[in-house]
This record gives sequence, C-alpha cells and structure tokens, in this order.
Amino acid sequence: MKIIRAKDYQDLSRKAANIISAQVIMKPDCVLGLATGSSPIGTYQQLVDWYNKGDVDFSGVKSVNLDEYRGLPKSDPQSYDYFMHEHFFDHVNIKPENINLPNGEAPDPDAECARYDKVIESLGGVDLQLLGCGRNGHIGFNEPGDCFAKGTHCVDLAESTIEANKRFFDSIDDVPRQAFSMGIQTIMRARKILIIISGKDKAEAVAKGFFGPITPQVPASILQLHPDVVAVVDEEALSLCDKV
Ligand code: F6R
Repeated sequence: MKIIRAKDYQDLSRKAANIISAQVIMKPDCVLGLATGSSPIGTYQQLVDWYNKGDVDFSGVKSVNLDEYRGLPKSDPQSYDYFMHEHFFDHVNIKPENINLPNGEAPDPDAECARYDKVIESLGGVDLQLLGCGRNGHIGFNEPGDCFAKGTHCVDLAESTIEANKRFFDSIDDVPRQAFSMGIQTIMRARKILIIISGKDKAEAVAKGFFGPITPQVPASILQLHPDVVAVVDEEALSLCDKV
C-alpha cells in the first residue's frame, strides 16, 4: 500500500483527482468504481473543473457505484444516485447508459445483488475503485463483522454509521437502516484502489486499518493484501500514525 500524505482536504482532493484523471487518460474506456459521502465531493469538483477546461474526457468511461440505500427512490435527494448526478455525472460527459448503481427500490434484494454482480462482471471488472472509509473502518457499506462479505449484498447499517450519516437527513429516523453494497471480494478484485481519508475522526480507522491486524472487525484492513492500493490521507487522519 502506498500512502500519500496530503496537507488538508483540498490537497487530498487534488491529488485524488489527479490519480483518477491519469487513469481516464491512460484508458479512456476504463471502468471507474465510485463512492459517495463527504470524502469524494472535493475530488469530483476538481474533476469537473478539469473537464470544463478540456483536460479530461469521460465520454468512454463506465462507472459502477459502491453502494445505494435500500428503499430510497433515485429522485430522493439522499439517494446515492441523486448524489452522483448532483456532484459529478450531470457536470461531465459520461454517457447515461454507462452509469451503474444498485437499484435501491428493487423489490427482490437477492435478485438485485445478483444483477449488480453480473453488471460488474459484464464490464470486465473495475479498473480503479475509489473508496472512502467510515470511522469504524467500513468500506462501501461493509460494516465490521465476523467475516468479509463476498459479492454485492444487502446490509444492515451499523448504529455508528446511522449516527454518522444522520447529518445528511432531517432526523435520525429518516436514515435508511439497510443498503446494497459491493462486497469485499468485488472491491479487492479491482485492478487498482484509491482510498481517500480526511479528518481527525478517521485517525483511528487509519491507524487500525493500515497498520493493525487484518480482520473483518476493521473491513479496510483487508486492503493491506491488495497489490495496488494508493491511500491519500490528510494530516489530521494520519495523526495517530507516527510511521508515515
Ligand atoms: C459511500 C461509502 C461509504 C463512505 C464512508 C465515509 O459510497 O461507501 O463507505 O465512503 O461512509 O463517508 P464520508 O466520506 O461521508 O465520511
């Protein structure tokens, strides 16, 4: 794992956007695995900015998002589909038919998980997977548990994740209790992984995930086994790691 130290969130966002645009320039028809949440907003803004300047072209790119809340329609401003359009897709030239997310409204969760795994497989897998990381070390919505989940699955969100995500909703009761998430195996099959982590409240997740034992209790720790991971981490998030 290569850890790149960023000064702050802005620096982290520029560095992450540089890595993603390099991927798109090197392979214009690549498959990007994308994430939502506060961590990648600055990265998407930077990519949109470079797109507007003519520096990067998304016309051949295909995307698969990591996760989606179960039960929210795409039109709901809290859905990840809505988030992706608001922060990225609506501002660049990615083709609508090349955008993929789990369908939060699918009536049969098992069938939806199987469909999503097939979509990823039919695209030939993910070239570059962008990840954030939860305070408890979750990646995607793979919460701490007794084993690493394989493919796409329907997850019960951990209380700490519901608590962390309530900031986006009117009240904690509005936070969905379940989500569809790519599994750890799918994430680990990505040819390259870029994880971005910012802020003091993530310092423990960074210390345990990158320097602690590999355990499903800290899902991000599995990334230590991937052959091509770049972690862009800001100084606050690195504050408990004296080795970097
Ligand atoms: C989002 C996702 C989550 C977030 C994580 C961190 O698609 O999969 O794992 O990356 O919850 O969220 P933020 O960036 O809001 O701190």
